[in-house]
Amino acid sequence: MNILKKLQEKSKSFTLLYVEDNKELRESTLLFLKKLFKNIDSAKDGKEGLEKYKSNAYDIVLTDIQMPKMDGLELLEAIKKIDPDKQTIILSAFDNKEYLLKAIEIKVDHYLTKPIDINLMAATLLSSIETLELRAEIEQQREIIIHQSRTSAMSDMLLYISHHWRQPLNTIALSTQSLSFIYELGELNQKYLNEHIATNMEMIKNLSSSLDQFRSFFVPSPHKSFNPFIAINEVVALLIDTFENDAIDISYSKNKMDAMEIYGDVNEFKQVILSILNNSKDAIDHLKKENKIDRGKINFIFKCNDKSIDIHIEDNGGGIAPEILHRVFDPFFTTHNIAHKKGLGLYIANMIISKKLNGTITLNNEEKGLRVAITLSLLSTPPCKLAHQ
Ligand SMILES: Nc1ncnc2c1ncn2[C@@H]1O[C@H](COP(=O)(O)OP(=O)(O)O)[C@@H](O)[C@H]1O
Ligand SMILES: [Mg+2]
Repeated sequence: MNILKKLQEKSKSFTLLYVEDNKELRESTLLFLKKLFKNIDSAKDGKEGLEKYKSNAYDIVLTDIQMPKMDGLELLEAIKKIDPDKQTIILSAFDNKEYLLKAIEIKVDHYLTKPIDINLMAATLLSSIETLELRAEIEQQREIIIHQSRTSAMSDMLLYISHHWRQPLNTIALSTQSLSFIYELGELNQKYLNEHIATNMEMIKNLSSSLDQFRSFFVPSPHKSFNPFIAINEVVALLIDTFENDAIDISYSKNKMDAMEIYGDVNEFKQVILSILNNSKDAIDHLKKENKIDRGKINFIFKCNDKSIDIHIEDNGGGIAPEILHRVFDPFFTTHNIAHKKGLGLYIANMIISKKLNGTITLNNEEKGLRVAITLSLLSTPPCKLAHQ
């Protein structure tokens, strides 16, 4: 298919910003570009271009270099800082070494020289669009993998929840049956009944809220900001009873974290925490079976930096053998032989933290076990505060 036709077919759903200070050239090029792009804007210098970009986040930015107020390279540098994945094209009368080197340094995607060659420009725009399409496809695949893997992390959680539920259910069952005894003994009065109803209702409310929490993992949450400390607490609240029953203590270095906002999907973050806790439990259970430890310990440590926070999760499960440490982030790497443990936990955790939450996750063997260190950029300034409750 002819390049122009192909471009015309694909370009309709993409947005473009064209920045050029020469009025005649800008208007004549716009005439051509408007035949391709439905959503297109133009600007007469880099400064105006950047302002427009900030409110519209165009998919492709096509710009001249030499312009008043802010030149094209400065403009693209600023845009790449905001959105490194957008497509940027230079269209310049100059191809001197200095400009080219600067363009490479700021990772400009294409460099075209004037006078404009329509065919070359069309081929370049098509290549940019195809890159954007490919990226969107990868993004979509990533979403699918993350979502599917959640069910695996959830199977562990379902086991925990069923433990968590058994005890209050037993208590409610026992106290319900005991009513007829109390009645036969002639001791059933209003006071007893009220107390009975109050305690049972409290337990029922707790069960219902843990069910809601559990369910909320599956409901897609819109991307927004969240407080990681609260998110961690919500995950831990669901697991803590079962972990304690299995002689694993979960503790926090600090009790409360204020004014701390991270941008992203809270359920994805919770999935990461759940996978890390599952892994610590696996390692601890293993050491306990071998009688190497009596009690498991998992400790959360929070640290505030200027623009980021560190979350460390340490356990006493013995850590990871140094010879496999570099492989545990690989997909399908596992040392377990259990159907639903497929070696995806850390792979997905790394994907979520680095690609979705713009942070880092590293693993280190400490004296007694593994330390998972997560660093996340904060949305909010002033920086977060740590406080004892
Ligand atoms: N806290 C930990 N302590 C010891 N080993 C761990 C820990 N976390 C992860 N691992 C190791 O890393 C491997 C990969 O973990 P993961 O990606 O979650 O997959 P899976 O749990 O399905 O095996 C585990 O099989 C285990 O050998
Ligand atoms: Mg795991």
